[in-house]
Amino acid sequence: MKVTKTTKSKLNKIDFSNLPFGTVFSDHMLICNYKDGHWGAAEILPYGPIPMAPGSQVLHYGQSVFEGMKAFKNDLNELLLFRKDENFKRLNQSAVRLSIPLIDESVFMNGLDSLLKIDSEWCKADQGYSLYIRPFIFASSECVKASASEEYTFIIITSPTINYYAGEMNVVIEEHYTRAPQGGVGYAKAAGNYAASFYPTKQANAKGFQQLIWTDAKEHKYIEESGTMNIWFRIGDVLVTPALSDSILGGITRNSIITLAKDNGIKVEERRILITEVIEAFNSGILNEVFGTGTAVAVNPINSITFRDDRMVIKEKADSFALKLKQQLQAIQKGSIVDTYNWTSKVTY
Ligand SMILES: Cc1ncc(COP(=O)(O)O)c(C=O)c1O
Repeated sequence: MKVTKTTKSKLNKIDFSNLPFGTVFSDHMLICNYKDGHWGAAEILPYGPIPMAPGSQVLHYGQSVFEGMKAFKNDLNELLLFRKDENFKRLNQSAVRLSIPLIDESVFMNGLDSLLKIDSEWCKADQGYSLYIRPFIFASSECVKASASEEYTFIIITSPTINYYAGEMNVVIEEHYTRAPQGGVGYAKAAGNYAASFYPTKQANAKGFQQLIWTDAKEHKYIEESGTMNIWFRIGDVLVTPALSDSILGGITRNSIITLAKDNGIKVEERRILITEVIEAFNSGILNEVFGTGTAVAVNPINSITFRDDRMVIKEKADSFALKLKQQLQAIQKGSIVDTYNWTSKVTY
């Protein structure tokens, strides 16, 4: 693979104690172009602006998909990637739905490995640090015809991150706007899903909520996701999460938490959840916990849920499932306990 290293590393200029999420990028990026029906050779370049024509199709029709994944350093200073196979699979599932050509496994995996080797210093080994990895593909033909592009660009960039306390998470159930309809692209990490969520989210923010809970597009009766997290309810001692459908993103954290919970002897149900069921559970005192899961936050407790004019405050539990599962997940990710699931893979450098 052709590698052009930067001559002006930013590494020593970064304040690693202050890393606002997704704003600081490592020194290099991987780039690979698709043209004439096939992907070309991938290349590593210094992170920086890319040439883009104003007529690039992605700018007009949003034909673009992405992934979000993380690497962590263990105590031996080895870099561990978490469930990279799952992110690769999901990127291609998203690509199929957006009519984007599939990425070869070797381009994705070798590209990831080579990039992380070069920028491994950007991931700190201290507790709480990780490297957020953002692979993405976009339509790059210079053409404003409303049709699938003939050319595409695949890029991987990385961003150092630190866990931070997200503060209170008060959410509101959304009954008007929809994140994803049946038959739509909700199960894909398509850029447009996020663009469409910003306006309703801003409205919820203006009312003092950090996030909203998306409900089904048809009746707004069933719970789907919370912001960009999969959502979980501990009803009694059973963990309930919405079953996957074409309007819900199949989170890799969600999948990991299902496995960990079951192995802790916790009963897990994946099924449809009515808003009224959550309210009834709260009123009868058995809504013990609510939390969200996703790569950025791992597991994030939800402090209150507002439905119309009623606010349900969920008190902290001494024996929190969320906390226990979060600790186990993060210990596996960081290599501080044995990974019996084979979820982590070492980047060799
Ligand atoms: C809409 C949505 N739901 C759920 C998730 C959680 O997925 P994962 O656990 O793979 O990060 C994400 C991504 O982070 C998301 O964008």
